[in-house]
Amino acid sequence: MKILGVETSCDETAAAVVEDGVTILSNVVASQVDIHARYGGVVPEVASRQHLLSINPVIGRAMLDAGTSWDDISAIAVTYGPGLAGSLLVGLCTAKALAWAHRLPLVGVNHLEGHIYANWLDGDVPPFPSVCLIVSGGHSDIILMRGHGDYVRLGRTRDDAAGEAFDKVARILDVGYPGGPAIEKASASATNAEGYPLPRAWLKGSYDFSFSGIKTAVLRLNSGIDDPKPTADIAASFQQAVVDVLAAKTVEVAAEYRAKRIIIAGGVAANKLLRRTVAERSEIPVSFPPLALCTDNAAMIASCGYFRYDRGETAGLSLDVEPNLKLGQK
Ligand code: KG4
Ligand code: ZN
Repeated sequence: MKILGVETSCDETAAAVVEDGVTILSNVVASQVDIHARYGGVVPEVASRQHLLSINPVIGRAMLDAGTSWDDISAIAVTYGPGLAGSLLVGLCTAKALAWAHRLPLVGVNHLEGHIYANWLDGDVPPFPSVCLIVSGGHSDIILMRGHGDYVRLGRTRDDAAGEAFDKVARILDVGYPGGPAIEKASASATNAEGYPLPRAWLKGSYDFSFSGIKTAVLRLNSGIDDPKPTADIAASFQQAVVDVLAAKTVEVAAEYRAKRIIIAGGVAANKLLRRTVAERSEIPVSFPPLALCTDNAAMIASCGYFRYDRGETAGLSLDVEPNLKLGQK
């Protein structure tokens, strides 16, 4: 069964064709990173306009790369939230129009659930129950996944998301855009990777996160006029502190809920120190998506869409965007 996935929740215009939820036939991403770089962050209005220009060529390319005709497609899966309203609308309206024109079922996908399914695309299917750490530019959630479509949110950020903290600290340190990869690169040349004991918000008794305090601490450290600190060492100390908390809480939750697998997902899952640290500390196997599937893409949306469609979860053409959509919230 071939599913066309469409993703436009933030600044990547993406389309992909995935077979049976696990085999990528095509995966096209038109990145807007160069367009937003000059502003140091995503400008929503600019993102929506760029999606409008890219969406049809990107879908056309995905169909061509997959060697698929519309008759071969079983359903169209599209992200309807969370994300930027204007960006989401472009993907959703396009997917609805295509579903109507080609008489195909429409499947609405939660972007966060999509990130989890990036782990279904590299051949090793995770068992249940799994504990998922979703760390992106907008979210830092710990989710217990008891089966397909069965989620309980156990922790979330109380302020900044992990990726957002990387982006803000990269701006403070002026190391480049986007912030996550820039901090990772700057950290690589550190001579003292744990040189500064930056605060870790453990929030004892809870699996929630908080990353706003560490951002302020970096700001203070970086403005030390009399005692200038090496940027690479500050970047590495920051990365170490964030990874330390993410890894510790995830491993703790996995043990408490007797999970069979830890699943890391979202843009920050591309971070090598995070991947290494969770794998080292965990007593159970850990899944990470291939690097190219950590950040936003439509293959993960098509994979998730396959499992939703399999459960009969199709949407009508009245489906609307939900910019604040949650996952696993009671
Ligand atoms: O999942 P994603 O592509 O978009 C959202 O759904 O938000 O995640 C983007 C976030 C950005 O904050 C970016 O700085 C972060 O993921 N990121 C990283 C790395 N690559 C991307 N953070 C840390 N290390 C990385 N290598
Ligand atoms: Zn994302």
